[in-house]
Amino acid sequence: MAFPQTRMRRLRATAGLRGLVRETDVRAGQLVLPMFVSESPTSAREPIATMPGVERCSIDAAVQDACEAAELGIAAVMLFGVPAEKDEHGSGAWDQDGVVQLATAAIKRAAPELLVVTDVCLCEYTAHGHCGVLRADGAVDNDATLELLARTAVSQARAGADIVAPSDMMDGRVRAIREELDGEGLLDTPILAYSAKFASAFYGPFREAAGSAPAFGDRRSYQMDPANGEEAVREALLDVQEGADMVMVKPALAYGDLIRAVKAATRLPVAAYNVSGEYAMVKAAAAAGYLDERAAVLEILTSLRRAGADTIVSYHAKDAARWLAEQT
Ligand code: PBG
Repeated sequence: MAFPQTRMRRLRATAGLRGLVRETDVRAGQLVLPMFVSESPTSAREPIATMPGVERCSIDAAVQDACEAAELGIAAVMLFGVPAEKDEHGSGAWDQDGVVQLATAAIKRAAPELLVVTDVCLCEYTAHGHCGVLRADGAVDNDATLELLARTAVSQARAGADIVAPSDMMDGRVRAIREELDGEGLLDTPILAYSAKFASAFYGPFREAAGSAPAFGDRRSYQMDPANGEEAVREALLDVQEGADMVMVKPALAYGDLIRAVKAATRLPVAAYNVSGEYAMVKAAAAAGYLDERAAVLEILTSLRRAGADTIVSYHAKDAARWLAEQT
């Protein structure tokens, strides 16, 4: 039956009716807050120009922020390291006394129930800024990188990380990490694989925050072509075969179709990473008075859940958790 028998507006008439038939919701417990932890002196907080409201924090400042996130009911923090020194191989990544390892242990002591997710990648630690080690000809050496990533994941899990999240896009890294974790008796540490990570313009602010822009070239020989959706599903299925416990699609806003497709193909928990450039766009438009930040953020988060994301990584997580608490 169509109009006039059917009137779609009937169920939109009041807040009560709209609430009754709402299909999708967002909870703070589904959100992950990314944090930049730097090897800087005690209680240092450095603003990041391209990401208003986000700071590079010393370990003790990061612990404060993590405790605040826990109080707001946020599920997890995701740690990115900003080391004082970098080298060719990115050895700071697997240093047991590295900034992420120390921050992980400190956060777990202060807020044991808050999950700590660690980024497994070399780009924040390599002098050249690429996500793996380089061959003599300057190309990123896939297989030589695997062992270093696996070592990094083990050091993070030993420090207390609840989930390790490889974001490097090397082939075979999920299997390499799983084998190394299992070999070290870390059988219960889940892997959240950045399965479909695209070579995106939306990572610009992050690279400024982490000081991880590649010194030459770009990441298109390892990150995916934004034009390819079938390939994203293949990447995710390969990661499932290699032992991924959760998979990720990144960026989020222009990739809702792939969140849906990856969810359908894998049936695994799927995370969407609402990346730095997506955050910066909303912040800039809100600061200019072009849109209502709160409404825009809640709409974005809801849309990612509707697309099929179980978990959302967002720089807006704290504000969102506050707004969601006020809503009820
Ligand atoms: C590191 C990494 C990046 C992001 C997460 N992990 C940057 C990159 O690949 O250049 C981007 C996150 C964001 O933009 O918020 N491999």
